[in-house]
Parts: sequence; C-alpha cells; structure tokens
Amino acid sequence: MPLVKTAELVSPGTGIAAFNVITLEHAEAIIAGAEEAGAPVICQISENAVKFHHGRLGPVTAATVSLAESSSARVALHLDHVTDESLLRRAADHGFGSVMYDGSRHDYAENVARTAEAAAWAHANGLWLEAELGEIGGKDGAHAPGVRTDPGEAARFTADTSVDALAVAVGSSHAMTDRTARLDHDLILRLRDALPVPLVLHGSSGVPDDELRRAVRNGMVKINIGTALNVAFTGAVAGHLPSGVDPRGYLAPARDAMARTVAHLLGVVSG
Ligand code: G3H
Ligand code: ZN
Repeated sequence: MPLVKTAELVSPGTGIAAFNVITLEHAEAIIAGAEEAGAPVICQISENAVKFHHGRLGPVTAATVSLAESSSARVALHLDHVTDESLLRRAADHGFGSVMYDGSRHDYAENVARTAEAAAWAHANGLWLEAELGEIGGKDGAHAPGVRTDPGEAARFTADTSVDALAVAVGSSHAMTDRTARLDHDLILRLRDALPVPLVLHGSSGVPDDELRRAVRNGMVKINIGTALNVAFTGAVAGHLPSGVDPRGYLAPARDAMARTVAHLLGVVSG
C-alpha cells in the first residue's frame, strides 16, 4: 500500500516502533516483520546511514519506499537524527513524512532557535518534525544513561519551537547491545503530563521488554530501535561463516533474524 504519513501513526496513548534502515536487508526485514506482526511501523533512515551511503539519500530511501509500497503493512518513512540543515531540506523530495532535527548538542537557546527554524521549514513543506532536548547518550559509543530532560524546560521548548514530537532523556542510551537499561518512569509520567506533544524514546535497543511495555503505558509513543537489528544481523552472520563466497549464504539468515526481532518488538510496543 502507499506510504502513510508519520503523523497518522503517532498518537498519544499507543506505541509505534520506528526501526533504523541501514541496508536493503534492514528495510526488507522491517517490512516483513511488520507484516508478520500485523502492526504498522516507521522505517527511519538516519544521517549516519546517509553518510554510510556516501551522502546519497536517494538509493536507500527509494528501495525502502518501493518495499513499503508493495507490502500489506502500513509503513511511514522518517529521516532521523539530522544535524545538517541541508540534509533536512532534502527530505521533502524523497517521500519522507517526518524528520527529526537533532539540535541537542547545542546549548538551550541555540537548540530552540535552530529547531524552531527546522519546524517552520518542515511545516511549510508538509512534514512532521521531531526534536530532542536533553542529549540522549551513546551517540559516540559512550554509554551515558544519566542525562535527564527537565519537564518545565521541555514544556517551554515545545511552546517556543512548535515541534510535533519530542525525544527525551529518561534513562536509555544509544547503541546498547545488552538490554539492561532502567527507565525513569516517574519522569516519563511528568513529561507526559507537562507536554502537549508525543514523547519519543531513543536508544530503545537497550531497554528490556517489560520496561518498554511500561514506558508505553506511561506515555512514551514513538519507540526508536536500531542496534537490536544489528545484534540480530551480526549474530546470524557470525553463525553462518564460512559459507562459501556467496553473500546470500549469510545475508538471508541475517535478514530473517532481523525480521524475527522486528516482529517480536512490534508485539511488545504495539501489542
Ligand atoms: O534514533 C535511533 C534510535 O534512538 C536507536 O537507538 O540503536 O540504541 O536502539 P538504538
Ligand atoms: Zn536516537
């Protein structure tokens, strides 16, 4: 079916999982897992994935759109963790329904100014904009679950920027390969009550199933998952080497392993 808009899938009170696409096999696995689970899904392509593809946004995006359009699953397309405003402005040409502008490395005033400008551009171009306040750790590989988003500051931030969703720091950390993160559920509840926009949980690969379920019950809406797919992918590849020289010998089980992970996590987040 045609792509759906991110805004149609993100609504307070329900969880929606967003998985990172790096290769064609990631996109195939995410969409196969969504079909198996009978759940909608967001495919997201990060600025880092675009860098991996030598700065080319078109090929990996076109493949993802094509797979979504030939699928029975409801799929939305999101451009993730954009720090480069020129990449942000390319989103409108490729079928994205939403973009995350990540200004969390800037100080508060600079983050507000840059995010407000990104949101104005996104809305003028029919896109939904996610932002981040309180830098969620692990983007450089360092495990940093200690950062927290202040609810009062977050309320001011959403009012001053007109964003559609906010990524908040509540105890998760990017790129965790074990699932040991503990979330600050009191803070999630306070953020939910303080903010007029859906909350986004980043670094969800490190969060155990029961913590994810509780986070959704407490008000987390968009649940971003990347590393868990790479754990499944690389584990399957390691289990199938050596298998001759044909990459399909290890890519097929790696793709299947990712699809199983997607179906499982969709059951946790949207079930
Ligand atoms: O934006 C992407 C996510 O926050 C993914 O984080 O790779 O730790 O699951 P993760
Ligand atoms: Zn993230």
